[in-house]
Amino acid sequence: MGASSPLRKKRVVLLGATGSIGENTLRVLAAHRDRLELVGVAARANWEKLATITGQFGVRDVALFEPGACAAARAHPAAFPPGTRVHGGLDGLNALARLPEADIVLVAVVGTTGLEPALTALAAGKDLALASKEILVLAGKFVMAEARRHGGRLLPVDSEHNAVFQCLEGHRATAGAADAASGVRRVVLTASGGAFRDWPVERLAAATPADALKHPNWAMGPKITVDSATLANKGLELIEAQWLFGLQPGQCAAVLHPQSIVHCLVEFADGAMLAQLCPPSMTFPIQHALLYPERVPGADAGLDLSRLLNLEFRPVDAARFPMLQLAQAAMAAGGVAPAIYNAANELAVAAFLDGRIPFLAIPQVVEHTLATIRNFEPDVLSAVVAIDAESRRVAAGHLQTFSS
Ligand SMILES: NC(=O)c1ccc[n+]([C@@H]2O[C@H](COP(=O)([O-])OP(=O)(O)OC[C@H]3O[C@@H](n4cnc5c(N)ncnc54)[C@H](OP(=O)(O)O)[C@@H]3O)[C@@H](O)[C@H]2O)c1
Repeated sequence: MGASSPLRKKRVVLLGATGSIGENTLRVLAAHRDRLELVGVAARANWEKLATITGQFGVRDVALFEPGACAAARAHPAAFPPGTRVHGGLDGLNALARLPEADIVLVAVVGTTGLEPALTALAAGKDLALASKEILVLAGKFVMAEARRHGGRLLPVDSEHNAVFQCLEGHRATAGAADAASGVRRVVLTASGGAFRDWPVERLAAATPADALKHPNWAMGPKITVDSATLANKGLELIEAQWLFGLQPGQCAAVLHPQSIVHCLVEFADGAMLAQLCPPSMTFPIQHALLYPERVPGADAGLDLSRLLNLEFRPVDAARFPMLQLAQAAMAAGGVAPAIYNAANELAVAAFLDGRIPFLAIPQVVEHTLATIRNFEPDVLSAVVAIDAESRRVAAGHLQTFSS
């Protein structure tokens, strides 16, 4: 970092710039050009949208995961501002994650592709703003260890975890940063219930991808929207919370909250609860993570308390959401079970979105994969990466049985 001045901008790398989190991040960056500067952007294939972003924000480093898209971008240099460097593949994402001028790397790549770039950013001493929940589910133990080793801050972007981070902030100041979870009885994450929360259970067998993608409160990418409909999303988040805040599985719970205004409840040992509230827009947690610890007016208006505000909480109906139960069982089992759950879910959701399996087959694929692969405690990162690959093989094999 150069000479510090109060006006020095934080330099941001954004992996997953063309997606839903990416777009919300660009809104935050546009609202805070005096404080934040975008220095690198990456996507899988959408080079045209990256070209537009580089023009709008004066970004010099771009990465595209897909080789064909990278070649297409290099073949159209005029689409990018002069001097733009186009990086390719996973190496390209890693190059952005360790850009010397970057202060903070926001990983919002869907799935687990962002794991290596996230570790690269931490090893390079950057702060890591993490939206991709799958990363901690796959390799929480190793990511948290890398953050501790290099002293980089891990700032949660997922709205519920960002909310917990905010609720624990005063507590950390008294309990000590290393002891943030002491005195915490449990952390309760709220769930909107997704597209099917009010559907009769018997209708779920016929639910289509178009039905599942109609989220009542949030506009998000397709994978996470389906995960919201199954509540796998909440399951992944409970596992993510366990790693981020050093909790035991029994300390992580979920409650249905249809309005998506309260994002978490942190219950302390004395029974007091703190909650974090804001409208259901990702610009709130993204801004909090990028500008942390500074608080300034944001891209979206806050809650309007001059209007009626109903806040409703309901217990989760376990029978309706087997994916949440499977996640809780995987979290309790520990070891590589969460990684198996995550990989099998990713394949099952992709198959559902392609119309290859019905909605209710998603938990069947995950349950089968969890039951097939032996659980163990991984002591090296390569072991979880291997289990991720094996889980995908087993899940893909089981998916074949639906087409025959
Ligand atoms: N959306 C939300 O409100 C929300 C909230 C909390 C957490 N999250 C988490 O944030 C992550 C992103 O979610 P999203 O809703 O923004 O997804 P999305 O709209 O589907 O966007 C995904 C982004 O990742 C990029 N990408 C996909 N595969 C890649 C790869 N192999 N290499 C590089 N880039 C790749 C995509 O690029 P292309 O456009 O080129 O395909 C796109 O920019 C997920 O892990 C999700 O669970 C999202």
